[in-house]
Amino acid sequence: MRILLTGGSGFIGSHIALLLLERGFDVLILDSFINSSYNVIYRIENYLDNKKINSKLETVVGDIRNKKLLNNIFSDSIKEEKPIDAVIHLAGLKSVSDSLINPLHYWDVNVLGTLNLLLTMKEFECYSLIFSSSATIYGLSDTVPMAEDHKISPINPYGQTKVAIENMFHDLYNSNINFWKICSLRYFNPVGAHPSGLIGEDPIGNPNNLFPFLTQVAIGRQKLLKVFGDNWDTKDGSGIRDYIHIVDLAEGHLACIDYLNSKDACLEFINLGSGKGYSVFQIIRQFELSTGCQIPFSIQSRRDGDVAECYADISKARKLLGWTPLKSLDQICIDGWNWQMKNPNGYS
Ligand code: WQD
Repeated sequence: MRILLTGGSGFIGSHIALLLLERGFDVLILDSFINSSYNVIYRIENYLDNKKINSKLETVVGDIRNKKLLNNIFSDSIKEEKPIDAVIHLAGLKSVSDSLINPLHYWDVNVLGTLNLLLTMKEFECYSLIFSSSATIYGLSDTVPMAEDHKISPINPYGQTKVAIENMFHDLYNSNINFWKICSLRYFNPVGAHPSGLIGEDPIGNPNNLFPFLTQVAIGRQKLLKVFGDNWDTKDGSGIRDYIHIVDLAEGHLACIDYLNSKDACLEFINLGSGKGYSVFQIIRQFELSTGCQIPFSIQSRRDGDVAECYADISKARKLLGWTPLKSLDQICIDGWNWQMKNPNGYS
C-alpha cells in the first residue's frame, strides 16, 4: 500500500512514517516544514538504509492549502502507476496558546487545508482517511476517564477547528457517496521518542508542552520547569493528563489502517491514549527516578486554556482496532531522555 502522510515530518508524523516504512508501506510525505526540520527525512532515510528496508519514502515540500499541489500529487501518483491507497492527515497547527492569539490562522490551515484535501481525495476517488484529532475537543472534563461519547465542548480555537473537521466527516459520510472510510483518532498527550533516539520531539522555540520542556531542563537548555498551577482540584493540585508513548500512538495508526482495510465503509471517532492519568508532579518524579536527572521547578499561576484533569477511556480502540498501549511511563521517560541526550539541540 502507498500512504500519503501529510505533516509527516513532525513529531507524530515522523514516528508514523518510520513504522509504516518498516512494515513495508510506501510513504509519500507532504509537509510545509514550517514546524519541523528536513533533517527528520535524512534521519529516516538513513534508518531505512542501515536496516536494509526497501520501502519507498518520497517527500514533497508544500502546504495543504495549495489545492493545485494536492491535485498534482494525486494525478502524478496515478500517472506513475503508484496510486495513493490511503491518507493519514496530520498536517495542521496544534498549539492551544497560539490558537488563542491567532484563531483565523488555525481555521485557515487546519480547516481549509483539510477541506482541500477532502475535495482532492473525492476527485481522485481515494476514500480512506485517518485523521489526527485531539482530546482537546472534550474541553472541561465532566467525567474521567473520557470516552468518545463525552460531551464535546472545546475551550480554545485549536479544539474548535478539530470539531469543525470532525463535523465535515459526519456530513461527508452521510452524503450520497457512502463508501468513505474515515477514522478520526483523538490523541491525548503523545510523548517520548523512538527507542533508537534517531527521531523525537523538537519543538521550535520554547516548548509549549510539558514533556519536551522537561527534557530541555534536564539537558540544561532551560533553567527550570514552570508548573502551571498547584491548586487544581486534583490529588496533588497539579494538572492530570494522559501521556501516551509516541510509538504506541504510531502503532495505533497501523492498527487503524488494518481496520479500514477490513471495512467497505466506516466513520469512527477513537481515543488514542494510555488510559491512565498522571499529574505534573508525578511526571517530574518519575522522570527523575527513570533518568537520574534533577528537575528544578517553580509554581506559576494556571495557564489559559488548561483543564484540571483529562485522560482517556481507550476501550473502543482496544475493541475496534485490537490495539492497546504497551509502553510504561518509565519507558516514556527513558526514551524521551535518550532522544534529548543524543540530540541536545534537537535536529539543528
Ligand atoms: C500538560 C500538563 C499543563 C507545560 C496539549 C494540547 C493538546 C495536545 C497535547 C495537540 C498541563 C502542565 C505544561 C509547562 C506545566 N496537542 N504544564 N508546565 O495542554 O494537556 O495538551 O498538548 O493535540 O491539544 O492542548 O499538554 O504538555 O501543554 O500540558 O505545568 O511548561 O502540564 O498545565 O497540566 P496539554 P501540555
